[in-house]
Formats: sequence, C-alpha cells, structure tokens
Amino acid sequence: MADGSESAQDDAPDHIVAEYPDRAFFEHREIFLHHLMSDLSAQLAGSGGGASTCLDIGSNTGRYTDLLTKHGLVASGVDYSAELVERARIRYPDLSFEEGNAEALPYPDNSFDGAASFGVLQLLPNWQTAISEMVRVIRPGGAAILETNRAFPVAEIMLKSASYLARGTMSLKDIGRFIRAHRLGPKRPAEEGLRKFAPKHLLKVLRTLPVESVALHDPRKFGYMHDFMWAVVLQKAQPTNENSHPSLRVSSCDDCRRHGVSSPGTAEATVDN
Ligand SMILES: C[S@@+](CC[C@H](N)C(=O)[O-])C[C@H]1O[C@@H](n2cnc3c(N)ncnc32)[C@H](O)[C@@H]1O
Repeated sequence: MADGSESAQDDAPDHIVAEYPDRAFFEHREIFLHHLMSDLSAQLAGSGGGASTCLDIGSNTGRYTDLLTKHGLVASGVDYSAELVERARIRYPDLSFEEGNAEALPYPDNSFDGAASFGVLQLLPNWQTAISEMVRVIRPGGAAILETNRAFPVAEIMLKSASYLARGTMSLKDIGRFIRAHRLGPKRPAEEGLRKFAPKHLLKVLRTLPVESVALHDPRKFGYMHDFMWAVVLQKAQPTNENSHPSLRVSSCDDCRRHGVSSPGTAEATVDN
C-alpha cells in the first residue's frame, strides 16, 4: 500500500476494477511494479550522481508516483486529466503533478533521468508517439519503464482456455470472449481499452529510437496468476555523431527468471518476441 490507507484496487480507475474484479490482480500487479521500480532505481543509480528524477506518465491520483519516491527517486507525475492531477496534488502535497498529454509531453528534451508509464500505453490512440515522447524527455543513459497489457500468444491462450473449460470456470461463450480479448494486437481502438501488445510490437517502435537496450520483464515468471500485463525497462542511448540509431540489445530480466514458474502451461515460456 502506498500510504497505508487504500489498497491498489481502491486506487484503480472504476473501468479497470470492472474489467479485473479480483483483488489479487491488483496486489500481484503491485508486486510486479515494485520489482520494476527497484530495477529502474538500480539502473539510474549506476548511471548518474545524486538522486535521480523520474516522470510518472499517466500518474492518476499519484499512488505509483509516490511509490517511485519510496524507491529512492525524485518522482513527479503528469496526467491528461485536470481532475486527477488536482486529486494527486491534494493527496501527495510534497510531490509535483502537472497536466499534460503523454503524446506531446510538456517538457524539453532530456529533462529527466528516468520515466515510467504504468498501464497507460494501451489507452493511447498514438501509442507509438507516446513511446517516442517518453524517450525524448529522458537524458541519454537514462532509463524508463513501460508497463502495458500483454497479448497472449496463440499456444498459451489455447492452453489457458482448455484448462478453464476443464475446470468449469468458464463457459464456451466466456472462452470466446476471453480469446477475442486477449489475442488482440495493438490495432484495436484505444477507447475499448482492450489493446494488447506483444514484445514485437514495442520493439518495432523502439528500434527506430535512440534506445540502446531493452530488458523484457515477464510477470508470469513470478509464478502467480497475474499474467495480463508485462513491461520493458529501456535505456536511452548516448548521442552519436552519425545519423543512425544504435542496434538495440534485447534481453530478458534475470530477476523475473529467478522467480521460477508455478502456473501450468507457462513453465517453459519466455517473453515471445
Ligand atoms: C489505467 S490508468 C493507470 C493509472 C496508474 N498509472 C496506474 O498504473 O494505476 C491510466 C491513466 O492514464 C491517464 N491518461 C490517459 N490518456 C492520457 C494521455 N493521453 N496523456 C496523459 N495521461 C493519460 C488517465 O487519466 C489515467 O490516469
């Protein structure tokens, strides 16, 4: 919990709670977010002096901006919604929150050491622009977390569907809906909130930007039920004299790997790219 008074589920927007009514979803996601934040904080600590600044893009009422500060970062938030910005300011008077659009961030280039965007990308009509904006506002050598919805690979969704049917936890009709919802790629209209991304979708955009490395983080490896979201932690490249971008190094997070896997059907899974 961020301030000891409300749970992650209490803080989530109503439409998200309606989509994922299970309290455990929010608690498990938060464990994953802690893992990402500690990775980001360690990466930034190793690449600059003093406390690192971090912009939380889509900060809502500030829960995860505050959690970033608990990971040693000097965090501030930006959100599209004036009402949410106001609520965040009241809730966390020591932190700074501003109104702004993730697709056209109101900051000069290289303004922050790091950035984070939790659960926002899938909502944006121009999500590719939002990724490039995030990279633009962090300094060379800085790092950023991008957490979003995960598109299930076909084999995994078939295994899951078969297991839900066998256990009687979903009807055939529910299974049809489940498959449609979780297989879909990034072309789904943003307003439906059902966009899902596989690593290949994000990597295609990241390869066009000054990004040196990307670590893929896979919550399935933590061995709990929460596998609807995933994340990358990227590092921005140092400027080169040439006009070309460095080739992107892609790896899978070792810590995610160390957590092992307990859910059936995913034991050998890696993040599919
Ligand atoms: C699903 S909520 C996620 C909130 C929080 N980051 C979390 O993980 O719980 C999405 C947030 O993104 C904000 N948002 C949506 N579109 C945005 C945009 N174009 N620019 C900035 N924020 C936006 C919403 O107002 C909302 O606060």
